[in-house]
Amino acid sequence: KPQLLKASPGDFMRPASRTRASHSPQANGIGVQVEDTKICVVMVGLPARGKSLIAQKVVRYLEWLSITAKCFNVGNYRRAGTPQPNASFFDTSNKEGEQLRKAAAEAAVTDMCKWFKTTDNLIAILDATNSTKTRRRWIKERCDAENIETIFVESKCDDEDLIMSNILEVKTTSPDYKGMDPEEAARDFRNRIKMYEKVYETLDEDEADLTYCKIIDVGSKVIINRIQDYLQSRVVYYLMNLHIKPRSIWISRHGESEFNLSGQIGGDANLSSRGQMYAKVLPDLVKQSAGDAPLTVWTSTLKRTAQTARWLPYEKLSWKALDELDSGVCDGLTYAEIEQQYPEDFKARDEDKYNYRYLGGESYRDVVIRLEPIIMELERSENILIVTHQAVLRCIYAYFMGSSQKKSPWMEVPLHCLIKLTPRAYSTQEERLHADVPAVSTFREKGSAAVHQDSGEASTRPSPVISGQTKG
Ligand code: ATP
Ligand code: F6P
Repeated sequence: KPQLLKASPGDFMRPASRTRASHSPQANGIGVQVEDTKICVVMVGLPARGKSLIAQKVVRYLEWLSITAKCFNVGNYRRAGTPQPNASFFDTSNKEGEQLRKAAAEAAVTDMCKWFKTTDNLIAILDATNSTKTRRRWIKERCDAENIETIFVESKCDDEDLIMSNILEVKTTSPDYKGMDPEEAARDFRNRIKMYEKVYETLDEDEADLTYCKIIDVGSKVIINRIQDYLQSRVVYYLMNLHIKPRSIWISRHGESEFNLSGQIGGDANLSSRGQMYAKVLPDLVKQSAGDAPLTVWTSTLKRTAQTARWLPYEKLSWKALDELDSGVCDGLTYAEIEQQYPEDFKARDEDKYNYRYLGGESYRDVVIRLEPIIMELERSENILIVTHQAVLRCIYAYFMGSSQKKSPWMEVPLHCLIKLTPRAYSTQEERLHADVPAVSTFREKGSAAVHQDSGEASTRPSPVISGQTKG
């Protein structure tokens, strides 16, 4: 029988083993608690403290792990009635402003409670300043009444230079200031912060009964209080690893391997002679993109990635978690042979490539689960170059770009191409550099058995191609 495993929120708690027995969702280590728990992550903090950025990252991370999450941004609700307020709107002595802001918070919380009524909707983020104890108590009571757990996440930061650069980076282009001169917008935003400062109350011992995580100075200090369950602790651990230092992540598949040439999947083959050429030019390609920036190279434990990284003059680390998707009984076969020997499986994989698990092997979903520690480590790290495999690269790329589970297993990622990802506020910028070394294409289109085609002679390839793309 074809191996299809559907989404289950607790999947990431314990990676499924690679046996057929683990096919049943019950055998997947899904804690009942996780399936039943609904959590509202309540952001707390003055404006321009990175709350929305943190909220969006948490949603992207959870969605990548198949945990349905949604951000409710109170600013968007407020904008529906008051699209372009000036700072005085946020003055607490402005009664009309106060009423409108409370109404926006009410509308967001009401929508959130409705959203939680749908099965599988597990984590909501309430993104607002929630800057007073009274407001936080009100949210807690609303959530308690609906059996929704609350975890308050405060970002506290008093570094004036950082706040000013945050304002210039993201606030002057906010819809609140559409059409306004950036300097004037920055001045008004600074005044808006002053209004909030008058009433802002940080989380403290008066609120010792609340579950909270207080992130001080972008994680240089973190205080956690009453974290209750596994899912909450995963979110907190993720938050503790975030930083905002500028950096990039480079990802490349290994150089062309002997198996790529013969069209076989999996295995632990050596590089072909063209693969070795790619390994030789890779240091220059990296240098061209990274300059003299320090970086660390991560490879899988398979020979082809170590051979590809061989000439790179950086510290190297090999990870089992970066090994290629395990194709089980199909390991070593070509796609045409799989279609012939396992026609039902071949069809099932095309129908739902993300969830299809090879007999005795893995699915894309399984790979995402085992990559979770890699993502955590990537968030903690600065410049990293990952030399890995087609399926693994697609999963890592999907995390940064927020690609859907339907699309990501079909993403075209050629051999001998270096992808540079640079996280920015609210988006990741992408650049691709192609090496001037030809290679077969290992891409298999849906419904085809893929003839592995040669990309042509070196001289016909443009080199290098740099393309920029930013996705939210
Ligand atoms: P507002 O209340 O106006 O919505 P906000 O707190 O949601 O503001 P963001 O819009 O998320 O602020 O601000 C993004 C900026 O904050 C980015 O420039 C990002 O680099 C920076 N940032 C991210 N995390 C933090 C943090 N923990 N502390 C301070 N700044 C941060
Ligand atoms: O063909 C190269 C390869 O890395 C195989 O080892 C692996 O099974 C395959 O790509 C993954 O790609 P897909 O999921 O598209 O079959």
